[in-house]
Amino acid sequence: MHIVHISVEMAPIAKVGGLGDVVTSLSRAVQDLNHNVDIILPKYDCLNLSNVKDFGFHMSYSWGGTEIKIWFGKVEGLSVYFLEPQNGHFWKGCIYGCNNDGERFGFFCHAALEFLLQSGSHPDVIHCHDWSSAPVAWLFKDQYMHYGLSKARIVFTIHNLEFGAPLIGKAMAYADKATTVSPTYSREVAGNPVIAPHLHKFHGILNGIDPDMWDPFNDKFLPVSYTWENVVEGKKAAKEALQQKLGLKRGDVPLIGIITRLTHQKGIHLIKHAIWRALDRGSQVVLLGSAPDPRIQNDFVNLASQLHSTHNQHARLCLTYDEPLSHLIYAAADFILVPSIFEPCGLTQLTAMRYGSIPIVRKTGGYTMKHLRMQCQIQCIDKFRQFILRIKYLSIKTKAISAWYESRDWFNSLCKVVMEQDWSWNRPALDYLELYHAARK
Ligand code: ADP
Ligand code: GLC
Repeated sequence: MHIVHISVEMAPIAKVGGLGDVVTSLSRAVQDLNHNVDIILPKYDCLNLSNVKDFGFHMSYSWGGTEIKIWFGKVEGLSVYFLEPQNGHFWKGCIYGCNNDGERFGFFCHAALEFLLQSGSHPDVIHCHDWSSAPVAWLFKDQYMHYGLSKARIVFTIHNLEFGAPLIGKAMAYADKATTVSPTYSREVAGNPVIAPHLHKFHGILNGIDPDMWDPFNDKFLPVSYTWENVVEGKKAAKEALQQKLGLKRGDVPLIGIITRLTHQKGIHLIKHAIWRALDRGSQVVLLGSAPDPRIQNDFVNLASQLHSTHNQHARLCLTYDEPLSHLIYAAADFILVPSIFEPCGLTQLTAMRYGSIPIVRKTGGYTMKHLRMQCQIQCIDKFRQFILRIKYLSIKTKAISAWYESRDWFNSLCKVVMEQDWSWNRPALDYLELYHAARK
């Protein structure tokens, strides 16, 4: 089968959040199953081109009153076509955040379909994502389906219904199949007016993570490679490296990591509260995050300077986007805090487990915790359930950190348990393929 993703994010070269991770890792998993996968992405001026191999000019055409250049390159083994309109829509130094994002991405969707038509491509499936490439669904059905691309079917994935609901609703109406990123979230949003009329073609498929891109045994950002067999040694070395890098007091203390977009969705007030609680209890805290909203960013800048004067040896807020640092934190942390108000899936919690860190979550959204409970037929499951499912931000003091101090052997066995879980795309990629086939019937 030939599948083309039309997306405005792709890890690691143009990533803002989990959408970018999913486009790359799902594509790699499907390609590994011997299907032909291409990705069409805007050629942002802020692309991280050092991660693109065999980069070169591919073709150009005129459309929408401007010349459009298409570049080609390989990213993580995937074929990517970079679309660069000469009207400068993607020469803004950022992915999102311009006051005409809707217009820019609408243009991108239309120009991407035009590229498929002009290059004589005949995909079986065109897969688009969230509000930003939602227009593909209706532009295809209204205009392109009747021309050369007739055999393609549209699959549309909702990563987050919070943004652009009217566009998502329109894409839902036109798509042949639609998905969202966990079964739980599919149930949570089933009653939403933009989803409810289309439940017959709507499916919740739990995201995976890429086991090669997130692999503590083969991660160039870690000081010591580890698997579950030497997790204690590997995480100890990572913790020391992180403490040294950030100028924190060196030593064997519990460390809570937070890696997040700083937005309402991620439970900002809970994060702030938890930071103080954890510090009171003798833990160290490292937060890596950036806020699209300057007021929230400013708020955290103030918090950082407050912590600098009171807890300089134990807390560090890194208010930026930093992929290498995120790998080191996943490995160094004992706990990764994800107190989201709502969470369609939440890759952070899955990545945490891959690195042997215990996610502290609210019971919301992503199906992952329930799923994990079913997989863990092991002795410490009761404690584990209590730890992961029941823990609330207020319990950081009383449960998580106490468990770390009081029962290190049990805690270390828990790290091994979470590392042994399979959060790869092996299973969900098959679900997507089944869906692609069903769309073509
Ligand atoms: P969302 O897509 O809602 O942001 P997810 O948990 O699904 O949430 O995905 C977030 C992804 O972005 C993860 O891969 C996480 O490691 C990464 N990430 C978030 N903030 C940062 C940051 N400041 N620096 C580096 N990576 C980050
Ligand atoms: C969205 C959601 C997040 C999900 C990610 C990837 O950004 O907020 O929960 O994991 O997309 O699907």
